[in-house]
Amino acid sequence: MRISVIGCGYLGAVHAAGMAELGHDVIGVDVDAEKIAALARAEAPFHEPGLPELLRAHRSRLLFTTDASAVRDARVHFIAVGTPQRSDSPAADTRFVDAAVEALLPHLAPGHLVVGKSTVPVGTAERLAARVRTTGARLVWNPEFLREGRAVDDTLHPDRLVYGIEAGDNESVALLDAVYEHPLTAGTPRLVTDLATAQLVKSAANAFLATKISFINAMAEVAEASGADVSQLADAIGLDARIGRAFLGAGLGFGGGCLPKDIRAFRARADELGVGDALAFLGEVDAINLRRRTRVVDVLERELGPLIGRRIAVLGLAFKPDSDDVRDSPALAVVQLLRERGAVVVATDPVAIETARRRDPLPIYVDTVEQALAGAEAVVLATEWAEYRQLDPAAAGSGVANRLVVDARNVLDVDAWRAAGWIVRGLGRAHAPSVEDPRAVESEAKRAAERQPDHV
Ligand code: UDX
Repeated sequence: MRISVIGCGYLGAVHAAGMAELGHDVIGVDVDAEKIAALARAEAPFHEPGLPELLRAHRSRLLFTTDASAVRDARVHFIAVGTPQRSDSPAADTRFVDAAVEALLPHLAPGHLVVGKSTVPVGTAERLAARVRTTGARLVWNPEFLREGRAVDDTLHPDRLVYGIEAGDNESVALLDAVYEHPLTAGTPRLVTDLATAQLVKSAANAFLATKISFINAMAEVAEASGADVSQLADAIGLDARIGRAFLGAGLGFGGGCLPKDIRAFRARADELGVGDALAFLGEVDAINLRRRTRVVDVLERELGPLIGRRIAVLGLAFKPDSDDVRDSPALAVVQLLRERGAVVVATDPVAIETARRRDPLPIYVDTVEQALAGAEAVVLATEWAEYRQLDPAAAGSGVANRLVVDARNVLDVDAWRAAGWIVRGLGRAHAPSVEDPRAVESEAKRAAERQPDHV
C-alpha cells in the first residue's frame, strides 16, 4: 500500500522505515530540510539502533521530502509530528498536529484514512476527525508506544495495537488491518475503542510508567533515611506478579521527550476537563522525579564539601542508554546543577555529546571515559550505558584523583568497586559505610570528627 508519514522525528522516521519493512511504499514528509536530506541518503538523523539498516534495506520503497504535496498518491496518512510542552503552560502544544492535518486536507478523498499517532490531549482527535470528514476521508487514532533505543522492534513487534475510531467505522478498521497485516498475523493483540479512549490509553500508559518510577524513587528517599536498600526492596516487591520488577529501577529518574511533558500535559487536560483532582498526584510524581537530580549533587557535596573548583566526571548525557536524545535528560541536568555549584564538570557519552553540546555548549565534553576520569575527584554514573556498567573498577581507578563514585543508576557491582578501593554511593541505598569498606569507614569517621571539633 502507498502510505505517507507526516513528521520524520524519532517517531515518524522509525514508523516510515518500519512501514517499508512491512512491505509498504512510504512517503515521509518533514519541514526540516536537513533531516529529510539525511533520511534521503538512508542515514538516520539521530541514534536509533536498527534504523540505518532499515533505511538502507528499503531505499526503493522510501521517499523522503519536504514537499507536502507529495502525499497526494497515498491512501493512508500517518500523523507523527511532535506535541511539545507549550512555552506558556504545562499543556501540550498541538499546533503541529493541527497544521499537519490542515495541510493534508486538499489531498484527501473518500476512502482515504488519516491515522493519528502523536500523543495528544484527549479531545484533539474528535476535533481533527470533524475536519477530515469534510473531505469524505476518515480519521483513526492509533497511539504509538515505542521506546527510544528499541523503537524499531517496538514498531515491528508492538505489544498491542489500539485503534480509536468513530462509531461504526468498520471500513477504517479493515484498512488499518491491511497496513498492519504482518504484526496482526503474528498475533499482536488489537483493541478497537472510541477516539477518546484511544487518546487516553497513551496518556494513561505514560502516566503509569512515570508513577511506577517515581514510586520506587519515593521508596529510595525513605530507604536512604532508614538505612534500607531500595534495589533489594525493588527485587523483593517486584517478585509479586501483580507488581512486577520492570520500571522499578530507582536512581536518577525519568527524562526524555515523552514522560515528563506527557504527565504535565495530561494533568493540564484533566484540569480543563474539571477533573484536575484526579490527576493531582502526577504533580507529586513530577516533583519526586526532579528531586532525584538535586539529590545526586547533594550526595557529592556531602562527600566532598563545597563543589567550587572540584573536578567531577559525569558518565552519560543521554536520557537513557542506546539513545542520543538529551531532551529533559536527568544526566544533563546533573551536569548543569554541578556547574551551578561551581564544579568543573568533564562529561562524556558514547553517542550524545553532539546533541548535548547543541543544548548546552558550556560543560567540558570529552570523547572517552579515560579522558573524563583523568584527575577526577568524583565520578557520577548518570546514564547506564552497557560500557559504563561493565567498567573495570581497578582500571577506572588508575586515572582519578579520588576513588569516589556516585552510581546514580544503581547498576554497578558495589562489592567489586569497593574491593578496588572505591567509595561507592548509590541513590536509595544506605549511606552508612559498609563494614567491609575500610576507606569509607575512615572517611566517614574523619567527617564525623570534623563535625565535632574537640573542644570538650
Ligand atoms: C516512553 C514510553 O516507555 C513509551 O511507551 C512511550 O511511547 C514514550 O515514552 P521512552 O521515553 O523512550 O519511552 O523511554 P523509557 O524507556 O520509557 O524510559 C523513560 C525514562 O525513565 C528514562 O529516562 C529512563 O532512564 C527512566 N527509567 C526507566 C527509570 O528511571 N527507571 C526505570 O526503571 C525505567
